[in-house]
Amino acid sequence: ANLDTLYRQVIMDHYKNPRNKGVLDDSLTIDMNNPTCGDRIRLTLKLEEGIVKDAKFEGEGCSISMSSASMMTQAIKGQSMDTALKLSSIFSNMMQGKEYDDSIDLGDIEALQGVAKFPARIKCATLAWKAMEKGINSEKES
Ligand code: FES
Ligand code: FES
Repeated sequence: ANLDTLYRQVIMDHYKNPRNKGVLDDSLTIDMNNPTCGDRIRLTLKLEEGIVKDAKFEGEGCSISMSSASMMTQAIKGQSMDTALKLSSIFSNMMQGKEYDDSIDLGDIEALQGVAKFPARIKCATLAWKAMEKGINSEKES
């Protein structure tokens, strides 16, 4: 199968079988929406000693936004907050079609790289990542 087909399958798998769906109790809650369509995400993060101990999301949105949220939670769980932010900047570069650091394990995230060709969809793909950045940055400042 060619890469595009493989990537599409990975995206649909995350959409149909989202990882880390739900809401964590007693945790940092970040709500974010995509103003262009009104779709929304609620991300809950359990941050302890600089580590993302757990992450869950729920929301309503298109297949790109929901699969990206699933991949994002999968990628950051168990990582340091700094690595989570680094993954976010790598993802942002990927979405801008720039070169990105692939020396760390990106897991399924790379399946979304084709979105860079569709500017209107980039906001869909980055919604969950923006929520995660906001949450971690607020924790760092507190
Ligand atoms: Fe939402 Fe295509 S998946 S517009
Ligand atoms: Fe709304 Fe993608 S169309 S987040």
